[in-house]
Amino acid sequence: MLRNISLTIHPGELVIIAGSSGCGKSTLLRSINGLIPHMYHGALSGSVRIDGANVAETSIVELAKKVGFVFQNPENQIFMFTVERDIAFGLENLGVPRNEIKDRVTWALQLLGIEHLAARAPHELSDGQKQRVALAGVLAMKPSILILDEPTSLLDPSTALELIEIVKMLNRDLGVTILIVEHRLDLLAQIASRIVCMDQGRVIFDGPPRSILATRDLTLIGIGVPTSTRLYNLLKDGVDLGEPPLTTEELAAQLGEELRKKSD
Ligand SMILES: Nc1ncnc2c1ncn2[C@@H]1O[C@H](COP(=O)(O)OP(=O)(O)OP(=O)(O)O)[C@@H](O)[C@H]1O
Ligand SMILES: [Mg+2]
Repeated sequence: MLRNISLTIHPGELVIIAGSSGCGKSTLLRSINGLIPHMYHGALSGSVRIDGANVAETSIVELAKKVGFVFQNPENQIFMFTVERDIAFGLENLGVPRNEIKDRVTWALQLLGIEHLAARAPHELSDGQKQRVALAGVLAMKPSILILDEPTSLLDPSTALELIEIVKMLNRDLGVTILIVEHRLDLLAQIASRIVCMDQGRVIFDGPPRSILATRDLTLIGIGVPTSTRLYNLLKDGVDLGEPPLTTEELAAQLGEELRKKSD
């Protein structure tokens, strides 16, 4: 059902995948980390290549070293009795030497600011803390590509923002290539290199955030248009605001500038 999809993601990009429920976002992501076809079987056509290697012909273990995957629900990837053991789990499976496991677990705990949770039982933590543990476990494998499938949808707004800040830091400071399904486009639009919009298994837009947010048709395919874009569309016929804003802060600055010009 994914039809005519041709996507190239370059190293270091942060790509937001958007589209209404059922359009095939998760299916696309699962084809990249190899869950499809290694775990989900069925008729498969087309191919996904990572650094030239065909995902269908690469083992799950090899893929796990390159592609990290964070699910919507952290319960899907938290198994162990302590946070520390949980973060070490993937590394133990890869046969990483003990000392290195210790170093990487410490690094991941620090990176996500959860050192104080190391000895806690993951199932007792809050949803936001669980999502950080899940992310730490994935990052400990040092993947060059990180895929997140609606990682904030179970989190309250402020915890969701904290997670988004971590995602930004991973891309900006560590150069991790990121593909993320996130409905709130304005949270990441400033840092995203592209937004890819899907509809019924197809990619219908693929381009820089600003050009996509300027398209009114987004509502027709069930993509939540950010408040700043909606306000901009309401105002732009009467006020010369320039390019569509990526965030409400940007819109406020554009309006302030316009008001200043008018009062001069
Ligand atoms: N390429 C495909 N081939 C066959 N089936 C597909 C394909 N893409 C999606 N589907 C099927 O369509 C359904 C919805 O797909 P998927 O879960 O990927 O959508 P989604 O965009 O992630 O939706 P949501 O926003 O609700 O998470 C699933 O049952 C999936 O198996
Ligand atoms: Mg999905």
